[in-house]
Amino acid sequence: MAIFVTGSTGFVGRNLLEYLVQTQPRQRIVCLVRDLNKATAQWPNPPANIHWLVGDLSHPESYREVLQAAELVFHVAALVGLRDGDAFFTQNTEATRQLVDTLTPSSRLRRLVFVSSISATDRDPASPAIDCMTETFPPQPQTDYGRSKLQAEQLIRASGLPYTIMVPAYIYGPHLRADSSTERLINDLKAGKRYTRFPFPGAVSAIHVDDLSEALWLAATHPNTLNERFLISHPQPVFIVDAFATLADCLGLQHTFTPLPGSSLERYRRQKSVPAANPILRRILWEHYFACSPVKWYQATGHQPKIAFPEGVRKTLASLSKRADWFWPG
Ligand SMILES: NC(=O)c1ccc[n+]([C@@H]2O[C@H](COP(=O)([O-])OP(=O)(O)OC[C@H]3O[C@@H](n4cnc5c(N)ncnc54)[C@H](OP(=O)(O)O)[C@@H]3O)[C@@H](O)[C@H]2O)c1
Repeated sequence: MAIFVTGSTGFVGRNLLEYLVQTQPRQRIVCLVRDLNKATAQWPNPPANIHWLVGDLSHPESYREVLQAAELVFHVAALVGLRDGDAFFTQNTEATRQLVDTLTPSSRLRRLVFVSSISATDRDPASPAIDCMTETFPPQPQTDYGRSKLQAEQLIRASGLPYTIMVPAYIYGPHLRADSSTERLINDLKAGKRYTRFPFPGAVSAIHVDDLSEALWLAATHPNTLNERFLISHPQPVFIVDAFATLADCLGLQHTFTPLPGSSLERYRRQKSVPAANPILRRILWEHYFACSPVKWYQATGHQPKIAFPEGVRKTLASLSKRADWFWPG
């Protein structure tokens, strides 16, 4: 079986590749990479079944032949960020269109797994986020990133290809990007930023990348996942207060929350600087903004992400501490 992976030099793709190498040692795995040096630095002694294909999603001639020979395709690559900008449509929507168009004549494809994002579903800006998102939520992406991922989902659904669309909530774990939100939270906690010390009522769904890798493999192979779209996260959303308390505990930081009367908290909420001008980040602190339910996934596959947040944080910090530029002792 030939497996084709995009985005394997990124956070999610690199973890997926580690999972595939461990669980599918006899399958040929071809990774489309833009930067061979980056790939080989991540894999100084790659196993014999990994093959690097230097190319770019925007240049189908760089991957056409190999893609058309693939039976399982994991399309993980994207430009990621809760922001606006034309680059999201080029790198996410158009690049996916080119991949889909290149795959269409392929008769070998058994499944195209597309890693989308909870930002492609998102929330109505006018109503408070008090419930968990499900697959039946009408998508209302609030950023160009989310819109570009939703358009990519729509292209895949309309393609006639056998697909599974996976919509992960916030993902964390080893090999985080240097600018990841997890690392920003850790830095802000360490710096004692004010917003990390208040007991905000918000909650988000999250998934450890090891659980996600396992789910992506099932998405590619389980019969009940064919031509379906699933929200995927740990079943228990993480409250912001618990997230900061857990991070502080794992880092050995003395951390106490400053209780504030409701009126002060409400005043604080209206300040534009909390914690940034980004309205989505503000809603994450106050509401159950990116909370979602993975029930459809569980009912289809019987699989449930099992790494709870405290354990996942410990695994993440253990991996960060091996990085040369990591600032935290121990
Ligand atoms: N991180 C999260 O919390 C999160 C949450 C929900 C969904 N997702 C989704 O998960 C997927 C992976 O995200 P990530 O966090 O792993 O992002 P990442 O660390 O930024 O990795 C992105 C990957 O895509 C590759 N890539 C980008 N444009 C490409 C192109 N034109 N041609 C070939 N490769 C290209 C990058 O290659 P280079 O190494 O060359 O840059 C990199 O390997 C994305 O689809 C994202 O929407 C992420």
